Amino acid sequence: MRITSKEALELLKSGVVESDDELQEARNKWVLHSICVGDTARIIAYAFGIDEDYAAALGYIHDIGRKISHPRHAIEGYHYMVQNGYPEEASICLTHSFIDNNIHLVAGGEVEEGETKEFIKGYLGSRELSLYDNIIQICDLMCLPEGVTTLEKRLLDIYSRKGIHSNTPAHYQNAIGLKEKLETMLGCSLYSLFDDMKEEDINSAAKDAEAIETMIRDNRVSILKK
Ligand SMILES: [Fe+2]
Repeated sequence: MRITSKEALELLKSGVVESDDELQEARNKWVLHSICVGDTARIIAYAFGIDEDYAAALGYIHDIGRKISHPRHAIEGYHYMVQNGYPEEASICLTHSFIDNNIHLVAGGEVEEGETKEFIKGYLGSRELSLYDNIIQICDLMCLPEGVTTLEKRLLDIYSRKGIHSNTPAHYQNAIGLKEKLETMLGCSLYSLFDDMKEEDINSAAKDAEAIETMIRDNRVSILKK
């Protein structure tokens, strides 16, 4: 049976926050981000007419490996979910960071060579990309701890923190491509689904995109042409 969003939220919080007051502590920002990803995925999945409770559950648990380790959160999250009896749901812990399940399309530079990379590569290659994967990937790139925002604002935040790497131009172009693909499928703008998205964020999306492109240029990696 699929995990419910209620079970996923309980699993996310267990051993991390005892009361919701603790969610405001700096160390728990990732939990707030995870809640935002689940809530955002629920709305997008509803628009697609697919199982919105399952999409929310996957959003809540996508970063659950951060309970164990931040740098190794993808693989640790996968093992944690398998150990807790959710082998199918465990996949989102590995797929969420890689646009279209492509191991090269990850923020913060390519995954370091080694056993873990080989495992992730093999795993991604063995799975068929699902709409749930794509939804969580875009939600991860639209959710700050403070709530849902534009892809542009969130990417600016990510690239400012994680830096510009050789694969950043491809990551950026494919993130934009993923948003456009989902919007074409839906027949509407993703941003129009969210009443709580700040107007100032939407209005500054073009400016944020320009700032990203300048950052990439300044780091001397060229924007790849589509
Ligand atoms: Fe995340």
